[in-house]
Amino acid sequence: MTKPFTLHILDSPESFNQFGARLLTELAQEAVAQRNRFNIALSGGGTPASIYKLWGERPYRDQMPWQQTHLFWGDERLVPPDDPGSNFRQINTLLLKNVPIPKENIHRAKGEYAVETAVADYTTQLKTIAQAGAPPIFDVVLLGMGSDGHTASLFPGSPPQQSEWVVSVTVNYDGRPAQRISLTPTIINCARHIIFLVSGGSKATMLQNVLYGPYQPDRLPAQRIQPTHGTLIWVLDTAVAQNLIHPS
Ligand code: 6PG
Repeated sequence: MTKPFTLHILDSPESFNQFGARLLTELAQEAVAQRNRFNIALSGGGTPASIYKLWGERPYRDQMPWQQTHLFWGDERLVPPDDPGSNFRQINTLLLKNVPIPKENIHRAKGEYAVETAVADYTTQLKTIAQAGAPPIFDVVLLGMGSDGHTASLFPGSPPQQSEWVVSVTVNYDGRPAQRISLTPTIINCARHIIFLVSGGSKATMLQNVLYGPYQPDRLPAQRIQPTHGTLIWVLDTAVAQNLIHPS
């Protein structure tokens, strides 16, 4: 990686999840104290699931400024919101049903739309938090990383530099073809805080390559994530961090 980053390595699933929920709550409180609003783009995948659940429980649920919190998604599959593959559905089940967030603060990508309409609709939603003509500045963008180095729905071999804010992709990942839409690095890299949540030994080699290997963003999309002004934070468990050797 070419930009500085911070590593947090947690030694149990419980401490990993507590760290994640606490970090999101603290960043939300900071954003609301400074700007009376907290804009976050959430990640899909399995890694953040327990963190979302914890975030909707005491003490974090009661500490969070839900009235000023606005949820977006880093990517979404083009399926209806109640489809098992929907990132919105996962977060609705784990978190939204348990917290007093106003419905108008939930800015989901409309997976039920045709792809062009979904891209246009989501881009319009993003414009509501952007200064005229400039990309929106999220307070937090949450990301995962696949064992192939993908992040959000930016997969190896996908066009690296995308001027658009939102792109559509068709991937055959985890054994099923799926159309998705995804934020691009143009948006993600403008965030105040970019947080990767990565766990599991199966990703250890890829993590070493992404963090300390040669810069090859075409093959390793997670390397495309280079904050322009904000912080880059990796929240890891000991299993995924087991191989980390900083080249001296
Ligand atoms: C998604 C995410 C995707 C995910 C990685 C890691 O919608 O699934 O955007 O990028 O973060 O595939 O997924 P796990 O956390 O399940 O390993």
